[in-house]
Amino acid sequence: MDEFAPFTSKLNRPIESKNVEFQRLGRLKHIINAAQLTPELLQTLCRTADTIRRLAKHRSGNDALRNLLSDKRAMLYFTQPSTRTFLSFMAACQILGLTCNEVRDPKTSSEVKRESRMDSIRMFSSYFDIIIMRSLAKDFAECCAYLMNRLEEQEKRSVPVINAGSGSDEHPTQALLDYYTIDRSFDFDERTDGVESRLPDLKADYPDLISGVGHKTYAFCGDIGRGRTVRSLARVLSQFPGTSMFFVSPDHEALKLDNDLRQELIRQGVSVQEFDTLEADVNGRPLIEQIDCLYMTRIQREHNSESTESELQQLDLEPFRLTVDRVNRVKSYAPILHPFPRDSVVGEIPVEVDSDPRAMYFRQARNGMWVRAALLVHLFDVADRLHEAEVGLLRS
Ligand code: NCD
Repeated sequence: MDEFAPFTSKLNRPIESKNVEFQRLGRLKHIINAAQLTPELLQTLCRTADTIRRLAKHRSGNDALRNLLSDKRAMLYFTQPSTRTFLSFMAACQILGLTCNEVRDPKTSSEVKRESRMDSIRMFSSYFDIIIMRSLAKDFAECCAYLMNRLEEQEKRSVPVINAGSGSDEHPTQALLDYYTIDRSFDFDERTDGVESRLPDLKADYPDLISGVGHKTYAFCGDIGRGRTVRSLARVLSQFPGTSMFFVSPDHEALKLDNDLRQELIRQGVSVQEFDTLEADVNGRPLIEQIDCLYMTRIQREHNSESTESELQQLDLEPFRLTVDRVNRVKSYAPILHPFPRDSVVGEIPVEVDSDPRAMYFRQARNGMWVRAALLVHLFDVADRLHEAEVGLLRS
């Protein structure tokens, strides 16, 4: 029996009509896909994350944060491996005082007694106030959101659903933390905390450079076809004016940019180009020297069929690996990101690169904790109380 059957007719609709159902009164009700992260919402969440960081620097700020959601409980239902997403959500919950519980191995749940996953979800919603979930099944999180909406219509208990990674499809909260990291990297202006503008110095070498996420060239390198983080981040960035994207992947059907995403990005006005090496010639100069941001990814071997596995064994991955020499040729302000985990055998980013100031991936992972806390503040609608806590701290 197809447990998603009651909702499959809802899956093949335009994303705009779906997303209306995932929000309420101008706020997110569930977060299922990256198209929900509009520029306005991204700004709101990033500024909320900044506030949480500031409060977390002080003991009394931490106490106030821990009070915000201390009456709530979260279920982390992660049936696919995870280190960072799981732990950063858990840490985010702990910062805000939520109690966390987890199911990671369905063999320890009644799913071994042939309970359907949809029944598991409904049980979680009986005991907890939010469900944060990761699954290999592409549409599972989306169907759970529909289940919760249906329960709400029937005036039964219903809780928000967060998609923390669905198949090779979407990973919207990763896109949120990637965006936050990029936004901070491209904030060259003078800041309220007294940090001077870097723009005048940078303009000497890069006269056209401006602050902000728009008007930039992003390179995505590695497994473009199956990397859900690439798909979600590209969707988020496509909303900004003047965006160019270079997709750099081995010339293999499974790894290349898929046609749906290509068409979607082009429709959004993004300039899209595809290459098969970081050294590709772009208007007379190597690609690696011309980009404003580099997003590296690993080859997602868990999605390989036996034949793909043997075909991929034959590939030369050198053109997709970062080296110290390549990093030295990247623009001086250009952040290098990776959603992690990096593949320690392939070595798409060798550890020698970690000390370069452009290497953002560890900072990026920590940012995940702050923006996920901001997302919880938004979903539970306690931003006003957060701001009151900050005003209280400033007074004391
Ligand atoms: C990514 C994922 O799970 O999609 N990891 C993460 O959440 N940071 C990337 C990956 O597994 O390659």
